[in-house]
Amino acid sequence: MTDKYAVIGNPIDHSKSPQIHKMFAQQTGQDISYEAIEAPLEEGGFKDKVIQLRDKGYRGCNVTVPFKFEAFKLAAVLSERAQVAQAVNTLKFDGATILGDNTDGAGLVRDIQQNLKFSLQGRDILLLGAGGAAWGVSLPLLEAEANINIFNRTTDKAQQLSHGLQVFLKRDLYTRKGLKFGLPNFVNSYAELSSKQFDFVINATSAGLTGSEIPLPPTIFAPGALAYDMMYGRETPFMKFAREHGAQVADGLGMLVEQAAESFYIWRGIRPDTAPVIAVLRTAK
Ligand code: ATR
Repeated sequence: MTDKYAVIGNPIDHSKSPQIHKMFAQQTGQDISYEAIEAPLEEGGFKDKVIQLRDKGYRGCNVTVPFKFEAFKLAAVLSERAQVAQAVNTLKFDGATILGDNTDGAGLVRDIQQNLKFSLQGRDILLLGAGGAAWGVSLPLLEAEANINIFNRTTDKAQQLSHGLQVFLKRDLYTRKGLKFGLPNFVNSYAELSSKQFDFVINATSAGLTGSEIPLPPTIFAPGALAYDMMYGRETPFMKFAREHGAQVADGLGMLVEQAAESFYIWRGIRPDTAPVIAVLRTAK
């Protein structure tokens, strides 16, 4: 029998997830269907939709904008990375129980390390932004043993993210996993940024959506640095700036496919080969 999955968002027309998961299914011989479903924006609309799918026998779903926080609240059991992110992009139905996970950070780390062949271990990262996207990727970046510095237009939010991570790490990971990384820092000001260089600058802001520039010192990129924008589809002002100042540049298409692969793995226990899927999406652009 075909196992049913879906991605839920609003709007959802633009989603590439059905195409990606269909390619994964073909490649691995898994008998699944995967569709895009729009949930109503009004209160309770998302929850009702998820319960409906679960009760119809769906096996799980991906969750995208603007429902990742609602999915976090809905899941009865949360992975550690979803707890830190306070956001869920992958739900798995285990009987009546709803399990929640967040594969965004794992997708980012895998794209950087496996596809782009950069090691994050011991490297200095500047994470731009302190919204949902930044929270979503922060624990997997730390688990890759990178040193994270957070810079945000609204400094308070960068401080909150860095503090939230520190609390979590002190409580748990440091003692349990013995990982080697510095405690996450927040960068107070543009002036402080001017005296620093980073091996990775990761744009987790939504500035690219509106084509806005993020003011950054041109000296921010260490030699051989990678500038990674979590957006895809077109060159953002951040990517242009990085290219003009000597960094290697990547967009978020690989992350999109890798987070999908991680969801597929959670549901099916099989890790698809992402390279051909990334290649298809790149040529389709
Ligand atoms: P998301 O879930 O995509 O992270 P969000 O929670 O609304 O969305 O967060 C958006 C992030 O992008 C925030 O860090 C925001 O900065 P503020 O906290 O100062 O609002 C950042 N951002 C959005 N537009 C920006 C811009 N033009 N320049 C710099 N940062 C921007």
